[in-house]
Amino acid sequence: MSHTQSPLLQPYQSDHLRLPNRIAMAPMTRGRADDVTAVPSPLTKTYYAQRADAGLIVTEGIWPDRLGKGGPGIPGLVDDAQVAGWREVTGAVHAAGGRIFAQLWHVGRMTHPVTLPDGELPVAPSPVRIASEPIYTREGSLDHVTPRAMTTAEADALIAAFAAEARNAIRAGFDGVEVHGANGYLIQQFLAENTNLRDDRFGGSRNGRLRFAVEAVEAVAAEIGPERVGLRISPDNPENEIAEEDPQGTYRSLVSALAPLGLAYLHVIERGAYGALADLRPLWPGTLIANFNGPEPTTRRAGEGVLDAGLADVFSFGRLFISNPDLPARIAADAPFNRHVEHLVYGGGAEGYIDYPALDGASA
Ligand SMILES: Cc1cc2nc3c(=O)[nH]c(=O)nc-3n(C[C@H](O)[C@H](O)[C@H](O)COP(=O)(O)O)c2cc1C
Repeated sequence: MSHTQSPLLQPYQSDHLRLPNRIAMAPMTRGRADDVTAVPSPLTKTYYAQRADAGLIVTEGIWPDRLGKGGPGIPGLVDDAQVAGWREVTGAVHAAGGRIFAQLWHVGRMTHPVTLPDGELPVAPSPVRIASEPIYTREGSLDHVTPRAMTTAEADALIAAFAAEARNAIRAGFDGVEVHGANGYLIQQFLAENTNLRDDRFGGSRNGRLRFAVEAVEAVAAEIGPERVGLRISPDNPENEIAEEDPQGTYRSLVSALAPLGLAYLHVIERGAYGALADLRPLWPGTLIANFNGPEPTTRRAGEGVLDAGLADVFSFGRLFISNPDLPARIAADAPFNRHVEHLVYGGGAEGYIDYPALDGASA
C-alpha cells in the first residue's frame, strides 16, 4: 500500500502545534446542545472522542454572547455549566490522545428573534436584512428580520466577550480557540462592503472594516496567548448574502495585519473566484490550514493536492469526518468512506452522530 506516501499522514510540527498527521476536523455545527442551557449534550464527548485521531479537532461554533446564537441546539461558553459540559468533552478527547480547539462563533444577523432570549432582535454591523433565503429556527423556516446595528460600545463589549469566551475555553480544558471569521457570520459582516455601512471606527474604510476582526483576534490572543489562537476566514465566499468587492485587498490587508502576532494558525476556506490560498500563503509566516467548501464533501485527493502544492500545512475535512470517525485510519488503509446521512446532520440524538462505524466494524 502506498499509504505512507499520503502527505495527509505526515506529522506536522510548528512552534505551537505538534500534530501526528495533517488531517484536521473542520468545525461543524451539529445542533445537539440543550436548547435552553446551551450545555453540550452528553453524546458530544463521545462524538469528539471517536474522532480524536484527527491531527487537530476544531469544534462546532460556540457562542460568546447570548445574541450570538444562530439556531436551535447551538452550545455556548459563557457560564459555569457550559464550561463544565465542555470540560467533559476535552477530557474525553485528551484521554483518547487528541487535540481540540473551540470555535468562537457569533452569527450577527444570521439568527432570528425566536432563537434569541426574550425575542430580541439580532445585532449586526449594520441593519442590512437577508432577503434571498429564510433562516432555520425551532419554529421552522422563517423570513429574516432586519438586524439592529450595534453601537460602538456594543462592538467593544463584544470584542471583550470573545476574550472572555477564550478564557472559558481554557478553563474548560481546550488546547486553544479558533475565531470564526468566515461564512458570512458576524466578523465577515464587518469585513464585507455590503454588510458594513458604518461610519464609526468599525467601518468607513478598509481599515475600519478590518478593525473588528483585528481587535477581536488581538483581544483573544492577549487573553490566552497567541500560540493558542487560530482564525478562520473565507475570502470571496458569497454564502449568507455576503458580497466582497475586493477580496484580495481586504484579505491581504487582514492577513498582513495579523501576521506579526504569532498565532497558532490561519484557517482558509477557499471558495469563489479569488484564489485565496495561493494569494495569501506567502503573506502568512505561520501554520496554514486549508479547507474547500463545495456542494459535495471534499475528497481526500483534493486535500492531498493542496499539501503537495505547498499551499497549506494541514487540510481540514468536514463532512467526511461526520460519517468517518476514523478518517485518518481509513486514509492510511485506502479504505472506502461512509457517506453521511443528510437529514441526521443537525439536531436529534445519537443517530447520525455517534453511530457511524469505524473500519473495525464497531462504533469507534
Ligand atoms: C453540518 C455542517 C456544519 C458546519 N458548521 C460550521 C461551523 O460551525 N463553523 C464553521 O466555521 N464552518 C462550519 N461548516 C463548514 C465546514 O467547516 C467546512 O468548511 C465545509 O463542510 C466544507 O468542508 P467539507 O467539504 O470537507 O465538508 C459546517 C459544515 C457542515 C457540513
